[in-house]
Formats: sequence, C-alpha cells, structure tokens
Amino acid sequence: MFIESFKVESPNVKYTDNEIHSVYDYQTTELVHENKNGAFQWTVKPKTVKYEFKTDTHVPKLGVMLVGWGGNNGSTLTAGVIANREGISWATKEKVQQANYFGSLTQASSIRVGSFNGEEIYAPFKSLLPMVHPEEIVFGGWDISNMNLADAMARGKVLDIDLQKQLRPFMEHMVPLPGIYDPDFIAANQGSRANHLIKGTKKQQLDQVIKDIRDFKEKSQVDKVVVLWTANTERYSNVVVGLNDTTENLMSSLDKNESEISPSTLYAIACVLENVPFINGSPQNTFVPGLIELAINRNSLIGGDDFKSGQTKMKSVLVDFLVGAGIKPTSIVSYNHLGNNDGMNLSAPQTFRSKEISKSNVVDDMVASNGILYEPGEHPDHVVVIKYVPYVGDSKRAMDEYTSEIFMGGKNTIVMHNTCEDSLLAAPIILDLVLLAELTTRIQFMAENEGKFHSFHPVATILSYLSKAPLVPPGTPVVNALSKQRAMLENILRACVGLAPENNMILEYK
Ligand code: NAI
Repeated sequence: MFIESFKVESPNVKYTDNEIHSVYDYQTTELVHENKNGAFQWTVKPKTVKYEFKTDTHVPKLGVMLVGWGGNNGSTLTAGVIANREGISWATKEKVQQANYFGSLTQASSIRVGSFNGEEIYAPFKSLLPMVHPEEIVFGGWDISNMNLADAMARGKVLDIDLQKQLRPFMEHMVPLPGIYDPDFIAANQGSRANHLIKGTKKQQLDQVIKDIRDFKEKSQVDKVVVLWTANTERYSNVVVGLNDTTENLMSSLDKNESEISPSTLYAIACVLENVPFINGSPQNTFVPGLIELAINRNSLIGGDDFKSGQTKMKSVLVDFLVGAGIKPTSIVSYNHLGNNDGMNLSAPQTFRSKEISKSNVVDDMVASNGILYEPGEHPDHVVVIKYVPYVGDSKRAMDEYTSEIFMGGKNTIVMHNTCEDSLLAAPIILDLVLLAELTTRIQFMAENEGKFHSFHPVATILSYLSKAPLVPPGTPVVNALSKQRAMLENILRACVGLAPENNMILEYK
C-alpha cells in the first residue's frame, strides 16, 4: 500500500515551527587488532553513539544555475520541469503521454515506512523531509553557445516533437549567459559552437561569474542558488605543486592568469567564494586540491563527479550482485556509442581519457570487499571504449560483457545491451542533485561528544548515489555499490526524523 505522507511520533523527535529535531542512536562497531604470535587477531565491539539532527523546515525559493544550460541535459531538464509544471501532455505514436519525473529518486521513488495489517506500507522518498518542489525552481545558467533554450531543445533532438511545439513559447525567451571558453580544455570540434563568451583574464572571468550569480539571485528573487556543471567534459587539469595544490597557490595562479586553471575550476571557485553549492556532473578533475581546501575552509558544499546514469549505474548494481553472491568477475568490457554533442566532444583523446578514468574505478570497492575471491591487489580486467556515431543521437548504446569465474572452474558470461537515452536519464539525476544538495545545507547534526551542531562535511558524499566517481574528503572510503549508496542517503534522511535505518529484517513476520 502507498501513502502520500506521514509524521513520526516519538519521544526522540520534536517538530517545531522552524525545525525537526531528532535524537538518534547510531549503531556501529569499533575494531581493534592485536598481534598474537605473529598473526593479527581482530576484535569487533558493537557500540552505540548518540547523534542529534536538526533540519530547518523552511523550504527556500531555489535558483538553479546550470553551466552548459543550452546542452542536451540542460535543455531537457528545463523542458521536463516546465512540462510538469504546466501539466502538458502530448501525442506519441503509442498514446497520449503525460509529463512525469520518472528516473528521479526524490520525485519518483518510494521508501518503506512499515507494515500495517500484514501489508508493507510505502511512501514517497520526498515525504521524508521538506524539500524544494521542482516546479518552484527558477532555472538559469551559462553556455558558450548563444542559442535560446527552445532552439537548444530542438538541436538536442531528445523530446517528442509535439511536446517541443507546446514548450517553445515557455523556452524561447530563456537565453543562457555567456560562458567561459578555453579551447585547450574541450575538444576542438566544439569551437564552432563557442559564440557567447566571457572575455578577459581568468580573474576577470571569475569576477564575471560571481557577478552573474549575484545578479541572478537578485533578479529572480530566490533565497538560495545551487550551481551544477553539465557542460562539456573537459580534459584533466595537471595537478602541480605550486600551481593548484593549495588554496594559496591556486589563488596566486589565478592572479597570474595561469593557463592550467580550467573553466570548470573557475566556476567552482566563484561558487565557493559565494558560498553557493557547486556540483560537477562531468568526469574531469574540476576539484583540484587547492579548490577542495578552499571549499573545506569556507564550509561551502562541493559534490560530484560525473552523473551516474546508465552503463555505470548498471555496473555498480551488477558487480555488487556478483561479488555479493560469491561469484568472481574477471573481465568487464564496456563499449559505448553515442551520437550527441557529448559523444562528439568525447571523440577527442584528452576528454575521452577523463571519462575513461571516471568509469574505471567504479568496481574497486566491491572487489576489495571480498578477499575470498580476490588476492590483495588483484583486479578484474576492465576496459571502456567510447565511439562517436552521429546517427544514434542521444540514444546512447552501452554494451557490456561480464565474465566471471563460478563454481569449480566454470565461467559465466553476461552480455547486456542498454539503450540509454542519455539526457532523459541524466535530467532527473540533475534534479535530484540540486534538490538534495539544497536539503543537506539545511541539516545540522552532532555526535554526543562533539558539543555543538555542524553541517555535513562540505565534500558532499551524501550525493554519491548520483555520481559515477564520488568525490570524498581526503581519507574517506569511496562507496560505489548502488544499493549501499541509496541506503546511506535514505537512512541519513530517516535519522533526521528519528526513524531507524531500513534493515530489511521484517522480524515481525518471522
Ligand atoms: P552537450 O554537449 O549537449 O551540452 C553541453 C553544453 O555545455 C553545450 O551546450 C556547450 O555549448 C556548453 N559548454 C561547453 N563548455 C562550456 C563552458 N565552459 N561554459 C558554459 N557552457 C559550456 O552535453 P550533454 O549531453 O548535455 O552532457 C553534458 C555533460 O554531462 C557532459 O560532460 C557529459 O559527459 C556529462 N554526463 C552526461 C550523462 C548523460 O547524458 N547521461 C551522464 C554522465 C555525464
């Protein structure tokens, strides 16, 4: 059974006019080991740590600025939200289709709240905590192409034509702000698109982006802004001692107009300086060490990298299932071909390399979790190929072959063909990223020994369910397995309203 909303009643939870306050027992373990006759002996001690959470329940008016607003993702997301807001339906060859938010964790997934009369009761994910409603978002952003959003939507060839016609009047007046273009960082084939640029030195470009954010905030009368990079994949920046390894060096490199500071890093610096959350939806290393340090020192949220939408999402499910089942994946080979502008940009070796890196590390945590299957340091062969095939447009084909060793030397091979509809999968993820980033800035918490409330670490690992290569604070484990990432997010939000983590034990029926 499905219910729309619920309220928690517990001595551990207080709802006031301004906040939800919860006291939460975090069940965890403490590990110790000692050397006994040359061998480590491990002891696991269960422990309970008391946490308090408080969530500000005032949902702000949110502005979302997309870098690459006129791209396939940016235009598809904007179109989708308007179609939902306006209640638009359109004829396809099969039926009359209604606008929806399928593919969005916050808008279209559910959580289990308990059992009632022998039935499992579910509620919308978004009913856990007060969140911004997508249709209340004011969209804006930058693009190096001056095309308005209606034309950009047509250029993207993602949405049905009848829908496009109905959306045009809502979108043709939307024109991105000029963007920061540096041909050294994206493929040369993007040059013909770059007609709408912020001129000047890197410092002047940074100042312009700061001004753009302030102006947008004022003009659109929003309380808060979140910025998200959905522009072209850039090549990796070189991380060099003295250049971008510390905040001081990064800022002095900026003053010296050093060429190795990428456009995405410039947008991100601007956001951190303005205390505006910045999320990177592409694979490049926007977050160079000097920038991460800056974000930490200013307690300004940064999150990324690279949307986890199609092939990688499957991989982080499938390999988790195989390794969790005691089966040993030994070879994972992934081919992609796509024909959208992202595919064209990725046809250059340097930008492809960024994607290859972010797609490659995705099974590491799962492999490392099973020392029965893998020797220390052992790894399956893992190859990723991406080819540009214009004809398939935004319908990215992802073909994967997983070969695993099974019982008694047998081999199991799974082959998968995944037609990804790239931007239709990515757009709801962008929505989730901005909504969850905003929400997390309203949550404060403290452990019993801390004495004062604080926000989450500015490197937002809480967003990792949505990221192909989750950015984590230095010295923090990376979790790629999708079910663990989802459980982490859901359970933290449950803790904020004093609900126990979903443990799937269902003891009441055993
Ligand atoms: P797109 O090429 O259609 O859109 C990118 C837009 O960014 C273009 O309009 C371009 O003019 C603009 N742009 C480029 N550099 C810019 C800059 N420095 N400042 C402002 N605007 C700039 O690409 P699409 O399909 O929308 O994808 C966007 C990004 O998302 C790509 O990097 C892609 O790798 C990444 N991504 C996409 C996924 C998906 O679509 N399923 C999944 C994972 C990541």
